[in-house]
Amino acid sequence: MQKRKAAYPILDLLKDRWSPRAMAGESLSHEELYTLFEAARWAPSSFNNQPWSFVHADRDSEYWNTFLDLLTPQNRRWADKAGVLIVVLSRSLFFYDDRPSRTHSFDTGAALENLALQGYSMGLVVHGMEGFDYERAHQVLKAPKEYTVEAIFAVGKPSSLSVLPEELQVREKPSDRKPIEQFVFKGIFGKTT
Ligand SMILES: Cc1cc2nc3c(=O)[nH]c(=O)nc-3n(C[C@H](O)[C@H](O)[C@H](O)COP(=O)(O)O)c2cc1C
Repeated sequence: MQKRKAAYPILDLLKDRWSPRAMAGESLSHEELYTLFEAARWAPSSFNNQPWSFVHADRDSEYWNTFLDLLTPQNRRWADKAGVLIVVLSRSLFFYDDRPSRTHSFDTGAALENLALQGYSMGLVVHGMEGFDYERAHQVLKAPKEYTVEAIFAVGKPSSLSVLPEELQVREKPSDRKPIEQFVFKGIFGKTT
């Protein structure tokens, strides 16, 4: 496997986590799945508001096909081998006073990175998706109106490349990142010197 190179010495976990697509079509145990949610639980959030919610469909549950149908055909062709599909939502109003929260999506993104890092460290595939019908997801979940659907995550046991269509097999490797100079600035946006 191609190794990523960090420009500064960060934790291996941060550098090595990636989003494969090849999964074995096996269920996760309750313990495995809830360990991921426990990781998400400890993320920081504005006012410790913890705006995230997760609605999951296990592959052997009555909800599986409904969740799978939300995905674009491009995502369905690999995500159908996940053990679980997790819809990630966040509450757009603070819990304690129902005032709009500016950071609910930001906070929920932090929770997701916790979940993804935990999953990677357990040898699981964790792969985010925006390729799905957001409106229909909100409807089928019967989510309250103050909740935003943020993403769906496919989580599963890893598998060999052969389960993927050829076009996806060649893309099944860790991606690189933009250099720091392209997104870190001094004092004024865009200024690097
Ligand atoms: C919120 C979110 C949405 C994504 N949507 C899709 C998607 O619809 N389909 C897909 O194949 N990958 C999707 N990805 C995966 C990204 O393409 C991937 O995380 C990115 O290329 C970086 O690669 P890495 O996670 O392997 O480091 C998504 C990732 C995130 C975090």
